[in-house]
Amino acid sequence: MTHKILIDTDPGIDDAMAIFYAALHPEIEIVGMTSVFGNVTTEIAARNAIVLAERAGQEIPVAKGAGKPLVQTPNPVSDYVHGAEGFGDMPAQDTTARPVDEPAHEFICRLINENPSEITLCPIGPLTNIALALRHDPTIAEKVKSVVIMGGGLERGNVSAYAEANIWNDPHAADEVFSAHWPLTMVGLDVTTQVVCDKPDFAAIAKASPKLGGFLNEAVQYYVNFYETHHGISGSQMHDPTAVIAITDPQYFTIENHALEVIVDGDRIGQTIRSTDPSRPKHKVPMGVDIDGVKRRFLTMFETGS
Ligand code: RIB
Ligand code: CA
Repeated sequence: MTHKILIDTDPGIDDAMAIFYAALHPEIEIVGMTSVFGNVTTEIAARNAIVLAERAGQEIPVAKGAGKPLVQTPNPVSDYVHGAEGFGDMPAQDTTARPVDEPAHEFICRLINENPSEITLCPIGPLTNIALALRHDPTIAEKVKSVVIMGGGLERGNVSAYAEANIWNDPHAADEVFSAHWPLTMVGLDVTTQVVCDKPDFAAIAKASPKLGGFLNEAVQYYVNFYETHHGISGSQMHDPTAVIAITDPQYFTIENHALEVIVDGDRIGQTIRSTDPSRPKHKVPMGVDIDGVKRRFLTMFETGS
């Protein structure tokens, strides 16, 4: 089975892991990428998405997306986690291609309309572009094959005790996305924080795959140092790649079904909670994960030697 996926992204070091995994996967075709603010500005995110596509040797159209949330004042970019240019200590990378001349939300709607029931939308950053796409053309909800996001968490947060970064960066957009009637899976911190790869893991993929694994190994040092300093974790939590692996390998996840809503103000802003609103659809929420299975799937993808 070929998965045609459209990745909405704020690369970002774990975004890079997700994008390289998808690029290497023989059953995935990345039909496009869209940039969003979050780890970096949307301009840097668009450039970094092109950097990753070109390094992976693939011509993937990239559309620049939202530079700020729908409603709230923007939070500062998380350069303290991903580095000033989005890839740790690595300097800004040059690209050959430029973003396409189409706003991300229109690009998303066009690709879904041109490929009805075929596109898996995979947002791994704040959900601003996704909410704007639903506002632009609500019928995409019936035409998309599935929506698999990295974001949220029912039992924990990371930017606060309650909120996960992607949701916290645009809670209003996330609430609109969760209220839509479409086949959505929320791959949240409940499972992504359990999947951790350490520096030896990345050194191993750098040896097997100098070009892509080597890039990740260089970028991840900054990211692991952040986790060691701020969370006492000797490794990288594999947030974004775990969401892509949930597309290709759902067998590694134990799913619950919940209607979801987002707290949009107060000290719990950005928290995702189970909703009792009968108008909201139930979405899939992985609450259990085969940690070794997901790690093995990610790490062995780089043994192809690219
Ligand atoms: O909370 C983790 C998420 O926020 C990941 O998508 C990471 O890249 C950041 O965007
Ligand atoms: Ca991300």
